[in-house]
Amino acid sequence: MAAVLAPSILSADFARLGADVQETQAGGAAMIHIDVMDGHFVPNITIGAAVTAALRKTTDLPLDCHLMIAEPDRHVDDFLDAGADMVSVHVEAATHLNRTVNRIRERGAKAGVVLNPATPLSALDEILQHIDFVLLMSVNPGFGGQKIIPSVLQKARTLRQRLDREAPDVRLEIDGGVTVDNIAEVAACGIDMIVTGSAVFGSEDIRGTTEQMVRRLAELAERERTC
Ligand code: DX5
Ligand code: ZN
Repeated sequence: MAAVLAPSILSADFARLGADVQETQAGGAAMIHIDVMDGHFVPNITIGAAVTAALRKTTDLPLDCHLMIAEPDRHVDDFLDAGADMVSVHVEAATHLNRTVNRIRERGAKAGVVLNPATPLSALDEILQHIDFVLLMSVNPGFGGQKIIPSVLQKARTLRQRLDREAPDVRLEIDGGVTVDNIAEVAACGIDMIVTGSAVFGSEDIRGTTEQMVRRLAELAERERTC
């Protein structure tokens, strides 16, 4: 199955988020990746449930909320109330991970777990059968515009093979450092959903091409899996 694009609004213009979201939708985005950061689990602070609720009104695309926050249990319901369709929490931050993912599913959303680059795939052993997707960080979380960590591609290939064997309904998402130069290679590792932020929104001078950038990245991502 070909990979789909999940533009991350972290690199969008926060003064025109709704318009940016609609431009990515026009370009063929499959979902909107919302990077929630609390300044504790990661150094940066971004947006929360209130902005997520505002964005909910601007698009009918699935909202893919990536919670880079400490104690996610305390906030999951706020994002579900705000209209999140997918909620992912870091295994490194969730003390009661089984309860957290069950709560997300109970409320009708897709539950995902996130692994930082240095977190081994074995962290999935006791949770894989309880989730809908795995998000592999291919950068250290907290900022957009970083370089991809190449070793995560092999981690993704290994996880793809494990999912095909043990959990074929669980989807694989990758997040961080994906650009026009590497997206075909990333997609070929068997990724289902590719997050990309700075490659879509980039600097001001290509602002008007957000739609074209999404279209171009989505076309590159739609490569059949070769691994
Ligand atoms: C980083 C975020 C990523 C990031 C991706 O902590 O989780 O979603 O915004 O941005 P790029 O594609 O610029 O690496
Ligand atoms: Zn993210």
